[in-house]
Amino acid sequence: MEMARRIKFLDTTLRDGEQTPGVNLNLQEKLEIALALERLGVDYIEAGFAIASVGDFEAVSGIAKALKSTGVVSLSRALEKDIDRAWEAVKNAVSPRIHTFLATSDIHMKYKLKMTEAEVLENSAKAVAYAKKYTNDVQFSPEDATRSRPEFLYKVLEGAIKAGATCLNIPDTVGYTNPEEYTKFLKGIMENVSGIEKVDISVHCHNDLGLAVANSAAAALAGASQIEGCINGLGERGGNAAIEELVMLFNTRRDYFDLEHNVDTTKIHRTSKLVSSLTGVMVQPNKPIVGANAFAHESGIHQHGVLEERSTYEIMTPESVGLTSNTMVLGKLSGKHAFVQRLDELGITPATDEEVSKAFGKFKALADRKKEVLDEDLIALVGDKSDSVAKKFELVSFQISSGNRMINTSTVQLKVADDVVTKAATGDGPIDASYQAIADICGYGFKLKEYTIRAVTGGHDALGEVHIKIEYDGKIYMGRGISTDIIESSILACLSAVNRIG
Ligand code: KIV
Ligand code: ZN
Repeated sequence: MEMARRIKFLDTTLRDGEQTPGVNLNLQEKLEIALALERLGVDYIEAGFAIASVGDFEAVSGIAKALKSTGVVSLSRALEKDIDRAWEAVKNAVSPRIHTFLATSDIHMKYKLKMTEAEVLENSAKAVAYAKKYTNDVQFSPEDATRSRPEFLYKVLEGAIKAGATCLNIPDTVGYTNPEEYTKFLKGIMENVSGIEKVDISVHCHNDLGLAVANSAAAALAGASQIEGCINGLGERGGNAAIEELVMLFNTRRDYFDLEHNVDTTKIHRTSKLVSSLTGVMVQPNKPIVGANAFAHESGIHQHGVLEERSTYEIMTPESVGLTSNTMVLGKLSGKHAFVQRLDELGITPATDEEVSKAFGKFKALADRKKEVLDEDLIALVGDKSDSVAKKFELVSFQISSGNRMINTSTVQLKVADDVVTKAATGDGPIDASYQAIADICGYGFKLKEYTIRAVTGGHDALGEVHIKIEYDGKIYMGRGISTDIIESSILACLSAVNRIG
């Protein structure tokens, strides 16, 4: 019997996903997501673009040091200084990889790169050879591959293989292709590029026309051995292929795809929640696999069918993606042991004893305000790393006076260095007034660009999670705050955004 082929997943949530407009994660948040992705079982994590900023560099190198088995990748343009920086960032990883790229489509070469075909051919091979001096594991991407002239692309790919590339990624950068065309395109590469059988063929599909998952699946059937994507389908513009959808597709239709992978599907739900919670990008309710309605049956006929026999309307079980009907409820009488055990079951155990104690402290404080502490609460609490980042401004207290026929006033007290500063301000509502008071204390005249609030769970005592985006000095900063009191979550979100400035 023939063995199923193994497909690798490269997760780029922290690189392409972080290019989602308005998303900017701090080091602690990126580390938390990287650890969750390692537990999920992806093969590689593209942790950032090391030369892009100091923050990106620190995130890639921090993740490279923290992960125990997963490969860590940094993106780099086809430039020596980028490759130097990428290597500096990934060199401490158990499996480091440099990913270098150069566009090959006429449009990109003419208008963006202002390079001739000959220059692109030469520079791509040179970049791979340069990266190869540092590590054996070098990935090359001809950007905008699917809009490139095939004969030219073959030459570039052949040059990259000769220079030592171990993985060739064929990106559909602008989400332009379709499954049938992509299949032919990839077959063309496999038939015309000498040495291609020695390297991994990777695909990286954008979702501009809603085909990213379909195109990636077609590529897997055509023989690709690596698929790139992001959790919750995050990414530039319409996003990247959603990894969770591909994984469940391969599992549910094992009969058709006959592919094996290393992903533990029962960790999908919590990873998705964590990514949504930390990035502030909500998951649409009808999103496959991880949307709130993905396993809900509304119509009476469907409910009847499922009650009789689940498989009538259920092609995969909620349990297979980690949705459990857990009956063990944590509350204020729960001890540390039960707390740690539940975290362990959720796969989110903090790394050090100190972090466990901190998380337990947060849990106790929450249990005082909320009768039942549910899994979603724990994911939100443990994912909240705001207290592990050095903060310029910290909340001491706030007091509001608000109503529909009065001037809304908020008095906010913040710890600023060794001082406590108090300011009162008025506004259209209690949140507006509080934000004005914070702006007065911090001296930042920021503009609120976006504000969303969601209940982490159901119930009157649910945690309210607030995500905001503020604009200051031409830049956007995001902030997140959670509390059972929505004014407090709003203030904490504002402080978390303000603390990212400078
Ligand atoms: O979409 C794209 O082409 C990319 C490359 C850098 C791989 O993100
Ligand atoms: Zn991309």
